[in-house]
Amino acid sequence: MKTVGIIGTGHIGSLLAKKLIETAVVGPRELCAANRSPEKLNKLAGELGITPCKDNIGVAEASDIIFVCVRPAEAKAVIAEIKPALTPQKLIISTVSDVKLADLKAWSGIDCVRIIPSVTSEYDRGVMVISFPDGIGDAVKESVMRLFEGFSTPYVAAEENISALSDLTSSSPAIIAAVIQEFAKAAAEKSNGRIPLSDAEELIRETLFGTAVLLDKLSQRSTLQSGNTADARSPFDVLIGSVATKGGITAEGVIAVRETAPELYEKVLTNMQNKHKKVERSFKE
Ligand SMILES: NC(=O)c1ccc[n+]([C@@H]2O[C@H](COP(=O)([O-])OP(=O)(O)OC[C@H]3O[C@@H](n4cnc5c(N)ncnc54)[C@H](OP(=O)(O)O)[C@@H]3O)[C@@H](O)[C@H]2O)c1
Repeated sequence: MKTVGIIGTGHIGSLLAKKLIETAVVGPRELCAANRSPEKLNKLAGELGITPCKDNIGVAEASDIIFVCVRPAEAKAVIAEIKPALTPQKLIISTVSDVKLADLKAWSGIDCVRIIPSVTSEYDRGVMVISFPDGIGDAVKESVMRLFEGFSTPYVAAEENISALSDLTSSSPAIIAAVIQEFAKAAAEKSNGRIPLSDAEELIRETLFGTAVLLDKLSQRSTLQSGNTADARSPFDVLIGSVATKGGITAEGVIAVRETAPELYEKVLTNMQNKHKKVERSFKE
């Protein structure tokens, strides 16, 4: 079993530590971590039984695979700090948004892989977008994918697509929650106070969960029936067709979504893409 280290035990570093242990990819004795401030690290180490390291280089020295889970502005300094402990046998896996494979390689001198996790992996669902550098061996690719398949759906992508895929998979729990919350707010407002917002949010939350389960089942069924997802009807279309019957009331709502949503999502994606570019530019300045 390889040893694993995590630098940065914030939301994502803690999630990865917890899930890698829960899925028995690594034992607590083979996992160590470091964090800038000790409180989160010590709490996590107490919960999981992993080894807390006093500094980042201690993590790099002890680990075959080093997860770098800090914010973009901190990534370059963290890698410079651990560089003396890096050897070609080690692998860096970076969760850091908008820091390119070429920069990671230039800063570290060793092979690096980028991943985009999702908070939904807390409950073993959601996508792990993975981007490998050119020339990395198939055995390494397979071993990296195996790390995550117990708690997510690994999806290998070209790096040029990673920020768009990050918006679609990693940012989207927040976007979906915001959209659904607006739906609840509008319903509460239209009822002139007869439906409290808290009830509207709770009702739509439960419906969202049921909708996700339905889409999941429809997706599995269409894959099985066609044997080829490209030929299958989209589970979204099947579900919409089964609720929004032609000429009916729900169909009117779907028409409103079709008319207005493209503009909304164009703006959502443009805002996020502009922010990606801004973060990327900050490394060049
Ligand atoms: N959250 C998401 O859903 C998500 C999804 C995909 C990718 N990402 C990316 O993953 C990275 C981490 O995100 P996050 O949400 O986990 O952020 P976070 O909660 O802010 O965690 C970052 C952690 O890094 C620690 N840190 C900062 N500088 C450090 C240093 N020099 N040495 C060691 N530890 C250091 C911080 O310590 P302190 O306790 O001192 O602050 C903090 O615990 C980011 O680049 C983010 O863009 C996040």
